[in-house]
Amino acid sequence: MVKVLVTGGCGFIGTNLVSYLLDHTNWEISVIDDLSEGKKEYLTSIFNYDPERISFVEGDIRDEDDVEQAITGCDHVVHLAAQTDVIASINAPFKDADINVTGTLNMLEASLRHGIKRFAFASSAAAVGEHAPPVDESKIPKPISPYGASKLTGEAYCSAYAGSHGMTSTALRFANVYGPNSWHKGSVVAEFIKTIIDGKRPVIFGDGDQTRDFVHAADISSAIKLSLTAELPSPFEVFQLGTGTETSVNQLFSIVEDALTDKGIEVPSPRYAPARAGEIYRNYCDISKAKDILGYTPDHDIEKGIQSSVDWFTD
Ligand SMILES: NC(=O)c1ccc[n+]([C@@H]2O[C@H](COP(=O)([O-])OP(=O)(O)OC[C@H]3O[C@@H](n4cnc5c(N)ncnc54)[C@H](O)[C@@H]3O)[C@@H](O)[C@H]2O)c1
Repeated sequence: MVKVLVTGGCGFIGTNLVSYLLDHTNWEISVIDDLSEGKKEYLTSIFNYDPERISFVEGDIRDEDDVEQAITGCDHVVHLAAQTDVIASINAPFKDADINVTGTLNMLEASLRHGIKRFAFASSAAAVGEHAPPVDESKIPKPISPYGASKLTGEAYCSAYAGSHGMTSTALRFANVYGPNSWHKGSVVAEFIKTIIDGKRPVIFGDGDQTRDFVHAADISSAIKLSLTAELPSPFEVFQLGTGTETSVNQLFSIVEDALTDKGIEVPSPRYAPARAGEIYRNYCDISKAKDILGYTPDHDIEKGIQSSVDWFTD
């Protein structure tokens, strides 16, 4: 029986991943989360939650004993736990590095001790920074925030453990992920939906023409699973994971507006505020490598994906 450790498994992507793995595999799942952002109820309330297949350790990825308890008996690690807020990383870079760099190193060391077969690291488009899109894996990374720098450092350690110890790992550079279980997130999709449901005016930072590659959490979950099972050309591989489609924040707003209006919810016009520091202007990614090597095929275009998110927030 395959057993996978999901760090940060009570968070947004973690709960979507656990749900996906319960549906698409017969694996057992160990979760470690310190509940700093996620909640245990986020995990236990997924529709297909199965206590027979899931074990949970409330603990910190920087604590050797906590990690030891969670990783024992596991074959693979999906390392999602992180400080995820770009602005927080600018204001508190040492805290960001402690969780994202020291925490990742601790997970790699534990993985080495336990003979982990595959280590999937949740990296980010922020590790590459601003490049003329579409961004692929060959671009020289130039992060523009401490968060991006800490993610790039995590990738570097994965590469180093492949080189020094032969550990097989993947750095998965997620684009902008959205979907169910994101009530606690400050990402643009979650913010638009929550603010409008609250009857308030949503805020668009900058002119709204900035673009992103918005990818549904179920598609990211499928890519993570594939990264644990697909044959890889070398012990360390980087993958850009998104949809390969560019959507502006203004376009996103109209799609959210349509989906909420269809539910009978009144949508106020957005308020425009100054652009935020450390944020990339144009971004979408080239997913050819993930398609070729992992067999990854995203299944949600932005309209279908937003519909599923709006359904989750409103039903
Ligand atoms: N959501 C996105 O759009 C996006 C984009 C790119 C990359 N990522 C990466 O994906 C991963 C998951 O992000 P998410 O959006 O689900 O965030 P999230 O905050 O919902 O989930 C992260 C989880 O990690 C836990 N955690 C934080 N610090 C911890 C620690 N020291 N020890 C144990 N648990 C800890 C939190 O409680 C939370 O449940 C992160 O690594 C993030 O950087 C996310």
